[in-house]
Amino acid sequence: MSKSSSYQENETVQLFEIFKRFKRFQFRFFEPSLGFLGFFSVTVCVIFCLFYLDYRAVIAKGFTAPGKSERFMWLQLNGSGKNKRVEFLEEDGNGCDLFDGDWVWDEKYPLYQSKDCRFLDQGFRCTENGRPDLFYTKWRWQPKHCNLPRFDAKMMLEKLRNKRLVFAGDSIGRNQWESLLCMLSSAIPNNDSIYEVNGSPITKHKGFLIFKFKDYNCTVEYYRSPFLVLHSRPPAGSPQKVRLTLKLDRMDWNSVKWRAADILVLNMGHWWNHEKTIKGGSYFQEGEEVKLEMGVEDAFRKSTETVVNWIQLEVNASKTQVFFRTFAPVHFRFVECISLLQLVFYLGFIPSILRSHS
Ligand SMILES: *[C@@H]1O[C@H](CO)[C@@H](O)[C@H](O)[C@H]1NC(C)=O
Ligand SMILES: *[C@@H]1O[C@H](CO)[C@@H](O)[C@H](O)[C@H]1NC(C)=O
Ligand SMILES: *[C@@H]1O[C@H](CO)[C@@H](O)[C@H](O)[C@H]1NC(C)=O
Ligand SMILES: *[C@@H]1O[C@H](CO)[C@@H](O)[C@H](O)[C@H]1NC(C)=O
Repeated sequence: MSKSSSYQENETVQLFEIFKRFKRFQFRFFEPSLGFLGFFSVTVCVIFCLFYLDYRAVIAKGFTAPGKSERFMWLQLNGSGKNKRVEFLEEDGNGCDLFDGDWVWDEKYPLYQSKDCRFLDQGFRCTENGRPDLFYTKWRWQPKHCNLPRFDAKMMLEKLRNKRLVFAGDSIGRNQWESLLCMLSSAIPNNDSIYEVNGSPITKHKGFLIFKFKDYNCTVEYYRSPFLVLHSRPPAGSPQKVRLTLKLDRMDWNSVKWRAADILVLNMGHWWNHEKTIKGGSYFQEGEEVKLEMGVEDAFRKSTETVVNWIQLEVNASKTQVFFRTFAPVHFRFVECISLLQLVFYLGFIPSILRSHS
C-alpha cells in the first residue's frame, strides 16, 4: 500500500516539475502584462492536460470512435448515468453488453506493479525500464449498463479450480497471459506453489509454457501461435523464395492441445501483414497449392474462417468457453505497455468466468 502511494507521489512531483519548467520557459519569452501571462499559462496547461488524457483515451479505446469526444468520460465516473447501472454479477446484470462501454480513469489502479511480478518479460517492465509516469496503468473498462466486479484473485482461482485456461496467439496474447499470471499470483504467498510444469523459464518464447497453481490444481497456459493456422515448410518443388507457407485451411499442430481447455483465449491479427508474411518468405497455401499471388487480406479472411470452423467443429461447446480476439493496441511504441493490456484483458472474460458456475 505504502509503496504504491509513494509511486503516486513521485508521479505528482514529476508532473509538478514539468509544469514549473513550462512556466519558467514562458517567462523567458514573454515579459508583458501579468494578466496575459496568467491567461497564457492556464491555457497551455489546460490544452496540455486535455491532449494528454485524450491521447491516452484514444489509445486505450483501440483507435475507435474518433468523432465522439471521450475526454470528459473520466470526470463523469460518478455522474447521473451511474445510478442506472446494475452489478454485473447480480441477476439483473445478465443481459449486460460488456463490450459497450468506455475507458475510465481509476485511481485505484493498477492491480499490480511489474516489480512485484516474476512472470513478466523484461521488455514490458515499463517502470523498471525507466518510464516515469503511471497514467497508462490507471484506466478501467466501464460497461455502459452495468458495473464489473473488481478483480479478485482468490475468487478467480477458486473458479479455475481443476481447470485449464489456455491462451493461444501472438505476443499480445502472451502479454495478457503474463499479466493474468501476475494478477493471480498476488493471492498466493508461497511462490514455489506456482511453477512451469516442464521447468521452462519465463524467458522461453517458442512453443508453450504451462504454469500450474498447485493449491488450486489449475493451469494457465500460453501457446505461441501468431497465425493460429499452420506455419510450416512449403511443399516440395516450391519456388526458392518460398521459405515457409501458411496453410490457410489447417490449424496449428498444437491446436489439439488447446481444444480440451476449459477456457480458451485465441488471438491473432498483428502478424497478418506484408512484413511478417511475404516479405519474410512466408507465402500462403491452400490444399497442396502455394498461392503466390494471394494478398494478405484474403489470407487473413480465409484463416479466420478456418479458426471459426475449427471452434465450431472441434471444440466442445458445453465444456469449453472460447474467446477470440483480433487487433489490439500494439506494444512496440512508447505509449503502450503491459498494464494497458491488463485492462484490455479484463474487458473480455473474467466476469463471464466469475458468473459461470456460480
Ligand atoms: C464514486 O462512488 C463510489 C460509490 O458509489 C464512491 O466509493 C467513490 O468514492 C466515488 N468517487 C468519487 C470520485 O466521488
Ligand atoms: C486436476 O485437474 C485436472 C484437470 O485439469 C483433472 O483431470 C484432475 O482430476 C484434477 N486432480 C485432482 C486431484 O482433482
Ligand atoms: C520466491 O520468493 C523468495 C523470497 O520470498 C525468493 O528468494 C525466491 O527467489 C522466489 N522464487 C522465485 C522462483 O522467484
Ligand atoms: C462435451 O463436454 C461435456 C461436458 O464436459 C461432456 O459431457 C460431453 O461428453 C462432451 N462431448 C463430447 C462429444 O466429447
